[in-house]
Amino acid sequence: MFTSTIDTATEFEKRFEKINTHVFDNSANASKAVAQQIAALIKEKQSQNKICVLGLATGSSPKSLYAELVRLHREEQLSFKNVITFNLDEYYPMKAESIHSYVRFMNEQLFDHIDILRENIHIPVGMLAKNDIADFCNQYEDQIEKAGGIDLQILGIGGNGHIGFNESGSLQNSKTRLVALDHSTRIAASKEFEGLKNTPRTAITLGVHKIMEAKRVILLAWGEGKSAIIVKAVEEGLTNLVPASFLQEHQHVDFVLDKEAASKLTRINKPWLVEEVIWTDKLISKAVLDLAISLEKPILMLTDADYIENGMSDLLAQMGPAYDINIRIFNKLQNTITGWPGGKPGADDSKRPERALPAKKRVLIFSPHPDDDIISMGGTFKRLHEQGHEVHVAYQTSGNIAVADDEAIRFAKFITDYNEAFGISCDEAQSIYNKSFDFLKTKEIGGIDIPELRKIKGIIRRGEARATSHFVGLPDSQIHFMNLPFYETGAIEKNPLGAEDIALTIDLIEQIKPHQIYAAGDLADPHGTHKVCLDAVFEALKQIKHKDFMKDCWLWLYRGAWQEWGIDEIDMAVPMGPDQVIEKRFGIFKHQSQKDGVVFQGSDSREFWQRAEDRNRETAELYDKLGLAHYAAMEAFVKWEY
Ligand code: F6R
Repeated sequence: MFTSTIDTATEFEKRFEKINTHVFDNSANASKAVAQQIAALIKEKQSQNKICVLGLATGSSPKSLYAELVRLHREEQLSFKNVITFNLDEYYPMKAESIHSYVRFMNEQLFDHIDILRENIHIPVGMLAKNDIADFCNQYEDQIEKAGGIDLQILGIGGNGHIGFNESGSLQNSKTRLVALDHSTRIAASKEFEGLKNTPRTAITLGVHKIMEAKRVILLAWGEGKSAIIVKAVEEGLTNLVPASFLQEHQHVDFVLDKEAASKLTRINKPWLVEEVIWTDKLISKAVLDLAISLEKPILMLTDADYIENGMSDLLAQMGPAYDINIRIFNKLQNTITGWPGGKPGADDSKRPERALPAKKRVLIFSPHPDDDIISMGGTFKRLHEQGHEVHVAYQTSGNIAVADDEAIRFAKFITDYNEAFGISCDEAQSIYNKSFDFLKTKEIGGIDIPELRKIKGIIRRGEARATSHFVGLPDSQIHFMNLPFYETGAIEKNPLGAEDIALTIDLIEQIKPHQIYAAGDLADPHGTHKVCLDAVFEALKQIKHKDFMKDCWLWLYRGAWQEWGIDEIDMAVPMGPDQVIEKRFGIFKHQSQKDGVVFQGSDSREFWQRAEDRNRETAELYDKLGLAHYAAMEAFVKWEY
């Protein structure tokens, strides 16, 4: 049915799963496969002269699916004339013409580009009088029934397991209704609404009952951020705390996942529990560290019984006793710790993460936004510079959408006040200020700024990045602002990576000829800026890796503000003492526009410096718990073969 490129798991290996899952190498290929299913259904119905009723979702997950459906319409003449659609939900209250409405979303992503008849489109109305909502919801369900029921329902899944806006606690027989949105849902949506205070509190959603009545359901989930809730929905018990788990009782449901969203399924995360595995070094580390963490024991305290009782007796049989395996993993982890991220000159480097030579390396740190370098690897950044390496930092994007409007206007006013104070006459500065000020008076929440404001916001972030790099000790000649064009849309939605982005990346690498490249290895959000920036680096390296100077160049990945590497993945851990932690904090403080609550807060209410400190401390504590030395903090890196 689904042809997936990487999923060869047998039914036996899938035995922990209560829902049919299909794992694809990426969301684009997964979306193509789902689009094929939809196209086949539409055509089958066409051949029978019947209508095809589709239940549709919004959010980031179905975007690539809709793009593929549009392509099938344009290039392969797939017609939607026999299609009737019912969307799952709409915020309430919400004007149809608002940039935030699901009406607008669906038109932009799908309906405006296909030949569906307008009268066949149904989306809950966001501007009803409160008293009319119940009637409307009943009619919505009647309309679905009249159309013959939903043939295929497309779903996304919320971080809390919601389907539609049926939040945790929804009943399995819930009807279409007005619901209060969960705090976590509002936080996830708040980046579109520039903050929680502007984010709707309620929505109208199709109930679980009607979703369960759909003849077929396909749920899409992409990215590591969805991996935890996917395991809960697929492998754990049916519970109204995770409404997606209700689908375990549906007769014809498929979960379509990319490999990151599937990464916590038992068959993928702990394959030794579902099948006989070949015990590679990587797998041994993963299994042993996992065992030590789950039993809360230092590695060297694990016993034969621990291995046997936790599904690892074959490892014990092949490589035991436990003492030998423990020592091996302990040493391996020990060897990841180094205070010399650029290599220790004159030392035996056979067991160190980095080469000793050349003693003075050229280092290129790619920072997706202007503050990722200091937030994610500030301690290492400073150490590399202090240990005499030629450190360059490259800010990949301007980061200009993440500056608050009042901050931007304050700077514009500063310029006019400055001019006035020093008797500088500059009409241009005054008119930029006036124009920006007037624009902000009528700006819609989440609306796109005029170019002047975007420029001002970019300059603010550039100044902050420069201040951080100066704080670390770099001269201007080693600070590079790339302003990659893919980012410059003025909106949350960015353009796809283009040839110019890659060319700029190649140019810089060729100019510096680094021995080490550091890049943000965030794979959590497949649509996020960090991933696009990483793809730019990967693509550039692919194109130039045959060049002579590249033979000497190692790629190290760090993780951005949102998550840390798994302990089994870490190849280099750079420890920091208490003073270095404070120093890093001051480096982060240079980013004043990102302090005290940022424009795009995400689901974490801590400030960036707090997240960085917590995370670096947690990594150090984990090393300690596993029986290694106890440092104040640690920054973690993965060596990436390209
Ligand atoms: C959208 C909807 C929601 C989303 C879910 C996932 O119509 O009802 O259930 O599917 O919140 O959102 P994304 O795909 O943005 O992660």
